Amino acid sequence: MEQPPEAIRSQEGQLSPFDWYAEMRAEDPVRFDEQREMWDIFRYEDVDRVLKDHDAFTARRTREDNEFSSDAEDDTGMLQTMITADPPEHNRLRGFVDERFQPGSIREYQPRVEAVTEDVLDALAGEEQFDFVDEFAIPFPVTVIAELLGIPAERRDQFKAWSDALIARPKNGTQTEIQRIQQERQQARQEMSDYFTKLVAERRGGDGDDFITLAANTEELSREEKVGFCILLLLAGNITTTNLLTNAIWSLEEQGLTDAVRTGAIGRKQVIEEVLRYRSPVQSLNRIAIADVELNGKQIQAGDAVTLWLGAANRDSEVFDTPEEFRPERRPNRHMAFGMGVHFCLGAHLARMEADVAMQQLLERFDRLDADLSNLDPLYSLYGLKSLPCEVNRTA
Ligand code: HEM
Repeated sequence: MEQPPEAIRSQEGQLSPFDWYAEMRAEDPVRFDEQREMWDIFRYEDVDRVLKDHDAFTARRTREDNEFSSDAEDDTGMLQTMITADPPEHNRLRGFVDERFQPGSIREYQPRVEAVTEDVLDALAGEEQFDFVDEFAIPFPVTVIAELLGIPAERRDQFKAWSDALIARPKNGTQTEIQRIQQERQQARQEMSDYFTKLVAERRGGDGDDFITLAANTEELSREEKVGFCILLLLAGNITTTNLLTNAIWSLEEQGLTDAVRTGAIGRKQVIEEVLRYRSPVQSLNRIAIADVELNGKQIQAGDAVTLWLGAANRDSEVFDTPEEFRPERRPNRHMAFGMGVHFCLGAHLARMEADVAMQQLLERFDRLDADLSNLDPLYSLYGLKSLPCEVNRTA
């Protein structure tokens, strides 16, 4: 796993990298980190430029183990997916599915997402305390993806176990533990790959409206690429959404705004956008330079790796007024939490709808949702929490 920069490696730094971002934006907005041997880029304008300049920067991974991407090709011998492809190859890998993630299609999925939310909340019936992360924010998006992929209900526990293995993180960091986690991750990938290969073959020629059938029937992708697409949805769409939901409850509680959202004084959709900006689940993305480029007075050379700090760009005062304040009413809110350019998140509209439905139902069911913020434990690699204990009161 790639190390975070030293300045934010501590638990405190992971929870709040924002002072460091502010300092870097002001003093060293394009800096080379000798320790990690890569560039860090902090300002909105520069991050935007790199993400849109496909001639100078590639999304292909020449460094392994980017947690966020499907680096499955390393372990399973699969071909790359859209997230690590550059145009025009990228268009081929994404084009067949783009339409199905546009707002019109997403609205059609909403009743199914509502049903999933109800199921996950029903499982909490009778609890007065629960861990929001483990018992809601993790199972909810996994079940939504399973539903949209058309995974039979009886396989969903298995599906969740694979997903857990893929996102497992070391707790005590011993060599034995790291090895065990890597082995389990590798095994989960292999099993998932075998499972999707079978489903893709079975559904070819079928007329189902699930994503596996869609992939199975496209002429654009090879068989391995179809399987890669299914795994990518799972990898890119779950823990990110988990963190959006967790960060939303965390931020509302911290800002004392839960009741304002409940009464409708503040719109849910605006809150979600501001959480995406203020506590972006994906704080950084990586690219590799494929040409020599000058950026903000610094010379980046072909072959250099760069980290783009979305979390820092999202608090750049050149673009946002009072960026360090949580202000759901801000308009426009041009955050980059879903990236920029051709790789702009495929699932952005789905994630927004999931968060909206989840928030609505949570506030309807519970007239109190006291999240305990006294002992925040950050999740390394993506921005969120390992747990968020809540004490609840039911409305009905
Ligand atoms: C790409 C964030 C939810 C599927 C991205 C990227 C970001 C992002 C920053 C750009 C990656 C890059 O440029 O290298 C998020 C966040 C989410 C979320 C913050 C939740 C709050 C989802 C969901 C799905 C999804 C629910 C699917 C079900 C994808 C895919 C890509 C992607 C397939 C690759 C797109 C491409 O390369 O063209 N996401 N994502 N994401 N996301 Fe999301």
